[in-house]
Amino acid sequence: MCGIVGYIGKQDAYPILIKGLQRLEYRGYDSAGITLFDESIRTYKVKGKVSDLEDFVKESNRSGSIGMGHTRWATHGEPNDVNAHPHESQNGKFVIIHNGIIENYSSLKKQLTNYGYEFKSETDTEVLVNLIEYLYLDSKLTVEEAVRNALQIVSGAYALVVMSKDEDDKLIAARKGSPMVIGIGEGEYFIASDASPIIEHTRSVIYMNDNDIATISKHGLSLKTLGNDVVAPKIHELDLEIGAIEKAGFDHFMLKEIFEQPETIVNTLRGRVSSDWKDVHHGGVMSVLPQLVNARRLIIVGCGTSWHAGLVGEYLLEEFARIPVEVEYGSEFRYRQPILYPDDIVIAISQSGETADTLAAVRLAKESRALVLGICNVVGSSIARETHAGIYTYAGPEIGVASTKAFTSQVTALTSFALMLGKERGTLSQERLETMISELMRIPEKITAVLNQNDHCKYISDLYKDAENFLYLGRGYLFPVALEGALKLKEISYIHAEGYPAAEMKHGPIALIDEKMPVVVIATKDRSYEKIVSNIQEVKARKGIVIAIVSEGDTVIKEMADHVIEIPHVEEAVSPILSVVPLQLLSYYIAVARGCNVDQPRNLAKSVTVE
Ligand code: F6R
Repeated sequence: MCGIVGYIGKQDAYPILIKGLQRLEYRGYDSAGITLFDESIRTYKVKGKVSDLEDFVKESNRSGSIGMGHTRWATHGEPNDVNAHPHESQNGKFVIIHNGIIENYSSLKKQLTNYGYEFKSETDTEVLVNLIEYLYLDSKLTVEEAVRNALQIVSGAYALVVMSKDEDDKLIAARKGSPMVIGIGEGEYFIASDASPIIEHTRSVIYMNDNDIATISKHGLSLKTLGNDVVAPKIHELDLEIGAIEKAGFDHFMLKEIFEQPETIVNTLRGRVSSDWKDVHHGGVMSVLPQLVNARRLIIVGCGTSWHAGLVGEYLLEEFARIPVEVEYGSEFRYRQPILYPDDIVIAISQSGETADTLAAVRLAKESRALVLGICNVVGSSIARETHAGIYTYAGPEIGVASTKAFTSQVTALTSFALMLGKERGTLSQERLETMISELMRIPEKITAVLNQNDHCKYISDLYKDAENFLYLGRGYLFPVALEGALKLKEISYIHAEGYPAAEMKHGPIALIDEKMPVVVIATKDRSYEKIVSNIQEVKARKGIVIAIVSEGDTVIKEMADHVIEIPHVEEAVSPILSVVPLQLLSYYIAVARGCNVDQPRNLAKSVTVE
């Protein structure tokens, strides 16, 4: 949600900032801007993408070895040139880039207006930069003090970088509720809202914590809390390859990430399954194994696709570990006064590890003294750091805004976690454990077989690209997959789609079915096969168009459906990992056929760090 990049050192800042913004563009792409310092502070900003910013500054002075850049996902104020960041204070003393929301901006704006401030933009960020300037001028503070004092007054979430005219050899960075990473080079520093712009320059990074404020010059860095206590920076080594954040010949990151899944699942399982395929363990949760084994209840929290993975987790954990599971949206959980007991175990699922609602749910659960685990993809992310223990999914950076490989890795991690718990709790026999491990280990090659149906999925997509509505149906383990298929289609092609448990269709959605309604039915051979065949007949009886995902060799559904996509046979409990892949491909190709920007769908951003 908004991308931030900053540089201070001996090189030209402009190319570093632009490249950094391009890497961060998946976080927001409605406007972009840059501030450079070289004798004077110069700001350029424009509605549109980073490429529009490049065109805009082509003829301008781009020199300077200190600077910062921003790519925006609008919260306050529509996307336009004026609302774009950086924002300058009224008297030109300060410039700021900001990610997050200042919740009390409206009362602050009133006060500042009384002090003679006028506002050019509709943003909360301009209020913050003027507040900093007001405190600086009124109380004769240093730049760092003014930023610190202002941040003590504002409520809400932020990651920000401030430059000042009076102390123009510094960048000040601060964070609360929005991620921020500082890269340490030789006589140079990089700041960014995630590590992707930093990785090509240095591997040594500091993950800022909430309420940290860093003052950075070419000669060094000082890290303090908002209360002015000195913090000893912890330097981490980034373990990320640059190739992992490039498109590698694919047209879009989303397609690349779909095709990476055979490999990402191997990565999720690496080191967790014994070499003889007889055992599975998760080192990251071993310290809390006794509590897990004795758990009375698990509560899974997440948002969007991660919530869908959580729903699959519910089926898995109840089947294999026989522990009652509840699955909650992070946003609902945090506000509905949930009853939490100290022996409850909360599992937060998040690709980014930064989703504000999920993070708030984690904090709430910790306040209730529940044990909190994280299943995250981004190493060192806030949720990963704030939970008591956890599992990394190791899917590598996911840049496409629509989550694909993160989902299959989350479900893979949940499957192996449920198997481990089942074994430890004695609710899963060794024989069944080994069968399931072997099913899981064979998933990557089976995904490759599904990916070979790429052209067939594209063919079907072209036929239905103009449909106005889609319905997705699945039963049991495949119901969350239906939800996920519908979400993928909605977010990247802007076609209205709904996912339903197939049996629920007759309680309402069946009224929608007519000859224009494509219905995607996940109908692989499992316990509910006969029932889903009946559901397909119900759709056909109302002239709906059936696109069925079936097990290889299925002849019954082939007779009834308009189109089938065959996938290799797998055990029901691992079928979500496999059956979601054709749904990802269908959404991708429908969106491409409709001319949509697949990697940067409208109104969306990759990591939702605001409420
Ligand atoms: C959908 C999608 C979103 C995210 C959701 C949670 O394709 O990407 O629904 O799944 O915003 O994000 P994380 O997993 O980062 O917490």
